[in-house]
Amino acid sequence: MEWYHIRGGIPLRGEYSVKGAKNAALPVLAASVCRSGVHEICGCPRIGDVRWMTEILEVLGARCQWEEDRLMVDSRRLDSAQVPRELMAKMRSSVFLMGSLLMRTGEAEIWRPGGCRIGKRPVDIHIDGLRCLGFEVREEEEKIVCRGTCRGGRYVLPYPSVGATENLMMAALSGDSLTVLENCAMEPEIADLQGFLRTLGYSVAGAGGRTILVEGAGRSDCSTGRDTMYFIMEDRIEAATYLMALAGTGGKGVLSGIRSIYLTSVLEVLEQMGCRIRSFEDRIALEAPRRLQSPGCVVTAPYPGFPTDCQPQLLTLAACAEGRTRIREEIFESRFSHKKELAKMGANIETSGKNAIIKGITSLLGAEVCAQDLRGGAALVLAGLMAEGTTAVTGIEHIERGYETLEQGLRELGGNIEKHDERKTKETEKPAAEAGGSSSDRRGVSGVSVFPDVSDHEL
Ligand code: EPZ
Repeated sequence: MEWYHIRGGIPLRGEYSVKGAKNAALPVLAASVCRSGVHEICGCPRIGDVRWMTEILEVLGARCQWEEDRLMVDSRRLDSAQVPRELMAKMRSSVFLMGSLLMRTGEAEIWRPGGCRIGKRPVDIHIDGLRCLGFEVREEEEKIVCRGTCRGGRYVLPYPSVGATENLMMAALSGDSLTVLENCAMEPEIADLQGFLRTLGYSVAGAGGRTILVEGAGRSDCSTGRDTMYFIMEDRIEAATYLMALAGTGGKGVLSGIRSIYLTSVLEVLEQMGCRIRSFEDRIALEAPRRLQSPGCVVTAPYPGFPTDCQPQLLTLAACAEGRTRIREEIFESRFSHKKELAKMGANIETSGKNAIIKGITSLLGAEVCAQDLRGGAALVLAGLMAEGTTAVTGIEHIERGYETLEQGLRELGGNIEKHDERKTKETEKPAAEAGGSSSDRRGVSGVSVFPDVSDHEL
């Protein structure tokens, strides 16, 4: 088991360079299947989800190879249009391959992507859209089998789903007429996918707005292949996470390689909490107050609203902000899962349905906490950086799905955070009684530390 060992209470200082966006890299890698060729994806983050996606691409017949931060995808050969079950289960974002496989081969067979900790994650809009555009979609108990070619026309998404928008953009390329997609999601990563599709030689326009136009290009094969190079956009959610780490620790720093236009709603909330923010072309400087103020009420919404992927981190900041904060999670049905872990650190959070009420306390206390999902796990790391004493965060495999070396990045900002691996740490168990017992409530349920180097006096 691996865990982060964090000593909190240190104001972060310094500069961090933002990495490539997970939520741009995944659809772009799926789209590399649309057209045969050798595609050089630059600025690709080396994260868990990208590793899973490359594994799936290789099972389908493509070849992937890293060269520094450039991922070369050779999609000239494709042997299969069936995404393997065990890999689908590892990463639901492989649902994007429906669209790209339909473009390339006219068929796609995926296992129904299950829900996850944050919600049921249905794909009914993906399926409804494909059927509306002329594809045959057969839903079996656990599989979704698609066949056909886009007949063009118009489809209005009932909800601006990011993944459905991206899947339909790629599937619509397969026909030979115009497709108009309306009520699309407007997340910047969708415009990044459009940029890659254009690099592949396709005519797609309007991404980033509500209506996207796709000119059908017909099936691609090796004879019409094209080699490409594409730079993935920066990860605005990673940037927001680091800005919140600076804000929560009373720190001061600069993020480089991030355009503030992608974070307007997040920067507004951080300014309401008392942070001083200055933006330049692709740099954001933040100086935090000694103690944050409550931002009042924050509601998550599709872009350009406050991003759901930053809600768990905001919940952590609110736990120590002066005053009472209300957060309403409108996108996913169970995205307050790390509330229980924050309670072990002393946070005062009540949740009911979509709403969370947070009464700010002066300081969290270090404890042993467990990450249950990607952004909730990042929020626990922020809590450890803010807390008095020492915190151990387990379940870091969830965090490493979406953050490349989070502990290294935070150390660059002066954070005291180390990654430990029990295979390398000698085992010593210290029952709570021996350790004075006083910290058992702070150590979570067991009271017995499973982290030999997190001794009682540190908590
Ligand atoms: C993308 O997920 C992101 N993932 C998510 O990031 C992000 O939270 C989400 O968009 C919203 O911004 C990637 O881009 C890889 P949706 P996606 O389809 O496409 C419902 C992270 O932490 N819905 O916009 O799955 C759905 O249940 C991850 O980086 C349907 O009902 O999101 C949800 O309530 C988490 N039917 C809402 O729409 C559908 O067919 C938003 O989902 C599709 C979605």
